[in-house]
Amino acid sequence: MAIVAPSILSANFAYLLQEVQEVYSYGAQYLHIDVMDGHFVPNITLGPTVFKHLRPHIPMVFDVHLMITNPQKYIKDFVQAGADVITFHFEAVSNIKEVIELIKSYNIKAGLSIKPHTDVRVLEPYLGDLDLILVMSVEPGFGGQKFMPIALDKIRYLKTRQQEFRYLIEVDGGINQETGKMCVEAGADILVAGNYIFTAKSRKEAVESLLRL
Ligand code: DX5
Ligand code: ZN
Repeated sequence: MAIVAPSILSANFAYLLQEVQEVYSYGAQYLHIDVMDGHFVPNITLGPTVFKHLRPHIPMVFDVHLMITNPQKYIKDFVQAGADVITFHFEAVSNIKEVIELIKSYNIKAGLSIKPHTDVRVLEPYLGDLDLILVMSVEPGFGGQKFMPIALDKIRYLKTRQQEFRYLIEVDGGINQETGKMCVEAGADILVAGNYIFTAKSRKEAVESLLRL
């Protein structure tokens, strides 16, 4: 069974707590929190001050996806706001190992993400250090984009390497029932979905359709 991680990027922020409680009630276990700085990606979203207020009300795994430059500067703030997993981008930093160690020093989980055109083999030196690997299946920056099948081979590759390690494989961007199925078959453990869930006529059916994959 896949883990479903609704992305709050597609939620209505005027009703954020209700929106999140709703998807939690349908069985979503992770909450995917997209942080963008207008620099690493051409869009700005939210920081820790927004989701720290959700923390006391929501028992989900807070899965923070940092699409920012200099993530190391902000790790502590995200930990204090209640992050359970912090994922940063391979393309954003040069001292990958140091940032992983910094995240783990707070006793939370560390993830690393690659953009669609980054070769999956760049992750090799870090596989043993990571709790999660996030494969982007769209260019990071916006919700509601079309799934890029280039992600599937990377998921397959990471699945073959997973036996030796203990990381979870997460996929993010353009996930719906059909693309989600392809990703689960390729080996994905966690499906991030924004638009598919939050714009669905029945959010319950949307979450359940991914949980069943
Ligand atoms: C894109 C974000 C995604 C996005 C997914 O940069 O990282 O998490 O919210 O949204 P959908 O599922 O609509 O593609
Ligand atoms: Zn994301």
